[in-house]
Amino acid sequence: MTSVTRSETPRVGDLPTPPTMPGLPVVGSLLAFRRSPMASFDAAKKLGDLVRLRFFHRRGFLVSHPDLVKRVLVDEHRRFGKQTRGYQNLRLIVGNGLLTSEGEFWKRQRRIVQPAFHHRSIASFADTMTASTERMLASWRSRELGRVEMEHEMSRLTLEIVGRCLFSTDLSDASDAVGPALTTVLGMAMDRITHVLQIPMSIPTPFNRKLMHAVAELDRVVLGIIEARRRSTERPTDLLSMLLEAKDEDTNETMSDTQLRDELMTLVLAGHETTANAMVWTFHLLSQNPDVRDRLHEELKNELAGRSPELSDLKRLPYTDAVVKESMRLYPPAWMLGRSTSEDLELGGFHVPKNSMVFISIYHLHRDPRFWAEPERFRPERFLNGEFESVPKHAYIPFSAGPRVCIGNAFAEMEAKLLLASICQRVKLEGAEGHVVTPEPMITLRPKYGLPMQLSWRVRD
Ligand code: HEM
Repeated sequence: MTSVTRSETPRVGDLPTPPTMPGLPVVGSLLAFRRSPMASFDAAKKLGDLVRLRFFHRRGFLVSHPDLVKRVLVDEHRRFGKQTRGYQNLRLIVGNGLLTSEGEFWKRQRRIVQPAFHHRSIASFADTMTASTERMLASWRSRELGRVEMEHEMSRLTLEIVGRCLFSTDLSDASDAVGPALTTVLGMAMDRITHVLQIPMSIPTPFNRKLMHAVAELDRVVLGIIEARRRSTERPTDLLSMLLEAKDEDTNETMSDTQLRDELMTLVLAGHETTANAMVWTFHLLSQNPDVRDRLHEELKNELAGRSPELSDLKRLPYTDAVVKESMRLYPPAWMLGRSTSEDLELGGFHVPKNSMVFISIYHLHRDPRFWAEPERFRPERFLNGEFESVPKHAYIPFSAGPRVCIGNAFAEMEAKLLLASICQRVKLEGAEGHVVTPEPMITLRPKYGLPMQLSWRVRD
């Protein structure tokens, strides 16, 4: 009797190991991953839906099927934590904020922040989003710009929006400090993540000092927001007030200064970098696909007739919505998710040991020919003609899924559509001649050498 039960439900440890990516002795796939994370995952994916990779002394598993993605992010999310190299290095920047914290602590912080992102709350942000965009367009016009660095412009604009909407603060002047500091910290964090040796931050190597200097630049901005509010007699009803006033249910204490700093840093960075990238990729794709750009302009011309878009207009802009969705399919700004296993477990019929890293490449899921017709083509129509309904739910996850789903997803979608509608009905943007656009998979997905664009004004008709 006992032996029958055993053979029907084998112990997890007795399950087979999934196909393994060939790698070098000792370091395994780490150097190949460092050279090109995309190429490493391209190769690994060919071996199956669950593939083992070795990174020095740690095992990694690439998950490439929507059913397994659902298990990791939704059904069994408690077994998949955030103790990965990626998150350890991200903590150097954002500390223990909403993106990086775990367990009961994370749950409590999420409960505090969540109301600021309810549909009712974010509806009031629409006017701020379009007003900031109009200001940017007016500045382009007054400077008679013929060429714009879109990465820079979008980063500036989305930072301004996050500051005004969530913290009632004008961060437009901070953009010149935040932009380069963020590029430095994201690049250096990625460098540490993929390096064979991670020198502890307590050792003041030139690399570590440069990284901490860039984090200090970001700190100056974030601490400046908190100090200005503490000095002010005004108490706007915004997310910053909610964070300042939130009290622990057990101790009745407000958040410590460190915790406040970590939450703000998380929201400032996560709240603008990804949306800026989504916009940049959308403009790039539109410049490469004039037919889509023309159809988008047609919709905007018909529905808005030169007016600035309002929230109530968005339901009449289905093509604009499809363009944003399709752009995030091809270039998901958060292109990869990492998790760690807290116990031995079974996944896809294989054994995944405790303390392994589990990767989900959103970029690859979104281009998997098993789930997407013409996966490499920019075809927003797929979100309008019923095609998308047959795509498995967890094959499209630009904002992740499950309890750790992006808290800002509705905010970001609304913002992206309002910005796109405001900008595309006024200007025509084309890729700068001779500029090659290559995705650079860092912690987020950016174009490697930025995105300079030629700009021409549309005549209002
Ligand atoms: C196009 C824009 C955006 C994309 C593609 C995006 C994507 C994501 C993804 C994939 C995650 C899950 C990360 C993980 O669990 O490993 C995430 C989490 C998060 N995002 Fe976003 N995001 C966007 C915009 C925003 C905005 C506008 C905000 C805030 C204003 C925001 C704040 C956050 C926070 C705080 C988390 C952590 C949530 C938690 O774990 O409870 N994001 N985002």
